[in-house]
Amino acid sequence: MPPFNDNSKEEVRSRTDIAAVIGRYVTLKPSGQTLKGLCPFHKEKTPSFHVNPVQGFYHCFGCGKGGDVFSFIQEIEGIGFAEALAMLAEECGVTLQRFSLQYSSGGETSGTCHPADNLSKTELLRIHELTARFFYSNIKPSAAAVAYLKSRGLRPETVRDFRLGFAPEEWTTLIDHCKKERIPEPALIACGLAIRKENGGCYDRFRNRVMFSLCDLSGRVIGFAGRGMGEDAVPKYLNSPETLLYKKKSFLYGLDRARTAVKEHQNVIVVEGYMDYLTLFQAGIRNIVATSGTALTPEHAHLLGRFARSVILTFDGDSAGQTAAERAVFTLAPFNLDLSVLILPGDEDPDSMVNNHGRGAFEEFLNNRRPWEEFIVERMMAAHDAATARGKSAVIDVLAPLAKSIGDPIIARHFKKVLAEKLGIEERLVYKKLPEKKEHATAFRPSLLSADLAYSTTLEGKFLHYLFLKPELIEEARNFVAPETLTDGISGDIYSLLLSTYDRECHLDNVTNYTDDPEIRRLISLLQVKEDTQEHIHEEFVQKIIHLRKKYLHLRLQECTLRMKKEPHLRNELLQLQHDYTMQLKELDGEE
Ligand code: UTP
Ligand code: MN
Repeated sequence: MPPFNDNSKEEVRSRTDIAAVIGRYVTLKPSGQTLKGLCPFHKEKTPSFHVNPVQGFYHCFGCGKGGDVFSFIQEIEGIGFAEALAMLAEECGVTLQRFSLQYSSGGETSGTCHPADNLSKTELLRIHELTARFFYSNIKPSAAAVAYLKSRGLRPETVRDFRLGFAPEEWTTLIDHCKKERIPEPALIACGLAIRKENGGCYDRFRNRVMFSLCDLSGRVIGFAGRGMGEDAVPKYLNSPETLLYKKKSFLYGLDRARTAVKEHQNVIVVEGYMDYLTLFQAGIRNIVATSGTALTPEHAHLLGRFARSVILTFDGDSAGQTAAERAVFTLAPFNLDLSVLILPGDEDPDSMVNNHGRGAFEEFLNNRRPWEEFIVERMMAAHDAATARGKSAVIDVLAPLAKSIGDPIIARHFKKVLAEKLGIEERLVYKKLPEKKEHATAFRPSLLSADLAYSTTLEGKFLHYLFLKPELIEEARNFVAPETLTDGISGDIYSLLLSTYDRECHLDNVTNYTDDPEIRRLISLLQVKEDTQEHIHEEFVQKIIHLRKKYLHLRLQECTLRMKKEPHLRNELLQLQHDYTMQLKELDGEE
């Protein structure tokens, strides 16, 4: 009985050199049987972080963190198990078997399931790396490039560390350079670095521009942006097109260099431009990222949430900036971040503020940021004549979609309170227009008081118990089990709570802090103290996942049969559903 992904997991493990992987993040020196370095997970001056390449484990005697190569990548990249597996698999050339179950919740395995493009990611990365080096080497020979970088106040070490560069004016310098490296034109086109002419020839996309390297979370170059050096360059910035590597909607400039500072501060400042980022960074403000001047997306929200609890969005003071701020609030507010908005004065951006008035002035100005609720209500009040009854009503109407999108009932309530206060009306009236979400009438929720002990022996109870025993299983659980798969009523709620707590804290120690429900608290304490009698937790856990999914599918099938009687007009759809469920059940039988 092959458990999920375990074959490929072990294959990836055996092909991966843990010392080489960790060596990309930590400088390791041999020390007896093991390697030693400064722990990347806590601050220290003398190395207490050990890697045992033979056994494939790492351990820090300072902070106690330890595990295998997968947990290392999860921890340092802030990603889940599936993603870590995908990343390492790709590096060592293992093709992950697409697991036959449908992913029941947002368990995306970034890109591993796509059919291989002509070029592998590894090859694209190699070309980007080589190109970044080439651009960098072009700076010195170009007096214009050197002068431009200097005029923007960029220091040589910043230029080097952030891998800035210069693309010469001629049409094919990069193409020619790559030819020498045996990289053919089609490969450069796939990278978005060259463009095909109608008559068949090719030319460099970036010419006579100062180049900014766009790097992924591991610091690998995945794209470029080129700034024209004249004030009238059109476009001012030219960016790489989307490729297999570079996805605009989830890209944030500089997160790779800022992640440690962001985690430390639990706070991130989002600026609009690459130059804003670099100037702040040079000034010593390092908990920052930049968008590419594009609208923020849910993917960005997710990414930011992985590293920080609180997010400060900064926008230029012009009307475009204000509109962008408004859109950003609508997009990001539902993600339950501590979100605030800072509109910069007049025609300043963070770059010019720091250059003209210094770091202190910018930091002081940060105090003017507004919580998103206040920002958005005030902005809507300014747009509608909020002095009149009709205006007040309109403000509530335009904010209704935003209010509805806030999942957290406490935040939603706070938002409505702010709305009522600012509009000067009773909260009751706001609630009339924006009623509270109806509690999801979850199936039946038995009172388990007398049956508490029995609960811990149910399928759902055991499944949750394993999660308490080994919280790292949550990442795997998440990929295969959605909360609604737990069909007994209360377990789905407990499971959701575990997922969100784990997201926040990477452990479950304080899980009861996040719920007031006495029943849930009682069951959790029961599951927490229950003794562990299992030896093969992972195998057992996988079996539980399979059984849970089967139980869920059987229930859905029964439901289909019932509905078919009641709603004969839906017969075809229901038959299709039944077929889907049956197929999924068959696949599960194969997994057992
Ligand atoms: P801005 O126009 O605010 O420029 O664009 P900036 O960042 O202040 O740049 P400098 O200081 O004039 O050099 C903000 C961001 O929008 C994107 C870039 O990512 C830029 O950093 N942008 C802007 C483009 O992609 N294309 C453009 O033509 C302009
Ligand atoms: Mn600027």
